[in-house]
Amino acid sequence: MFIDSHCHLSFPELAGDIDGVLERMRGAGVDGALNVCVTLEEFPDVARLAQAHPNLWASVGVHPDYREAREPDVATLVALARQPRVVAIGETGLDYFRLKEPLDWQRERFRVHIRAAREAGLPLIIHTRAAAEDTLKIMREERASDVGGVMHCFTESRQVAEAALDLGFHISFSGIVTFKNAQDLREVAAAVPLERLLIETDAPYLAPVPHRGRTNEPAYVAFVAEAIAKLKGLDRNRIGIESSRVFRRLFNV
Ligand code: NI
Repeated sequence: MFIDSHCHLSFPELAGDIDGVLERMRGAGVDGALNVCVTLEEFPDVARLAQAHPNLWASVGVHPDYREAREPDVATLVALARQPRVVAIGETGLDYFRLKEPLDWQRERFRVHIRAAREAGLPLIIHTRAAAEDTLKIMREERASDVGGVMHCFTESRQVAEAALDLGFHISFSGIVTFKNAQDLREVAAAVPLERLLIETDAPYLAPVPHRGRTNEPAYVAFVAEAIAKLKGLDRNRIGIESSRVFRRLFNV
């Protein structure tokens, strides 16, 4: 019924208990999860997990926060993207919150990912933090709209959401929508049309209420669906079914 559109099952908090993670997903009605890559060093593990489990998928990319990671080029990303079960390029994007200028390398890395996505014909998974304006500018300059994708763990304003929707992108909400202080974000989520809305955990981080502060995992994506259902005056299962349909269409699975 639910699909977790963004998690990191290869991180040490979860990698040692994949059987448990999968079992709890089943118990919570979570049919699948996209295991998102953050470095090329990590990619073999990310891909292997997806290749070993029919309800997991993988991405390939180097996250903007990983300054010291091996730098990807277009050809490498495109080649890795051809491996079985790889359905997206990312996560990529800009983060001016964790790291400070000069960040020319980060903007260039983002451009490389968009070029790779266009060449591979795969959607993008985009992370943006304290950098919305530059993120949108680079998306436009590099014609990210040719492939589309998702703005993951969305925490920006309604205007930024609308700009991303105009570029053909989807908006994914995490457990942050369940946090007490996230009223502004709930208003954004209420305004995003169901046919462009995804749900995610970003596990092992950002566990939703009532698990806030603990290790997050894909089974908890149902709490995200529940929070969004409340905002839209719909049933939790309806959010699960609709967002799963959106996921399968976007990632072509
Ligand atoms: Ni992530």
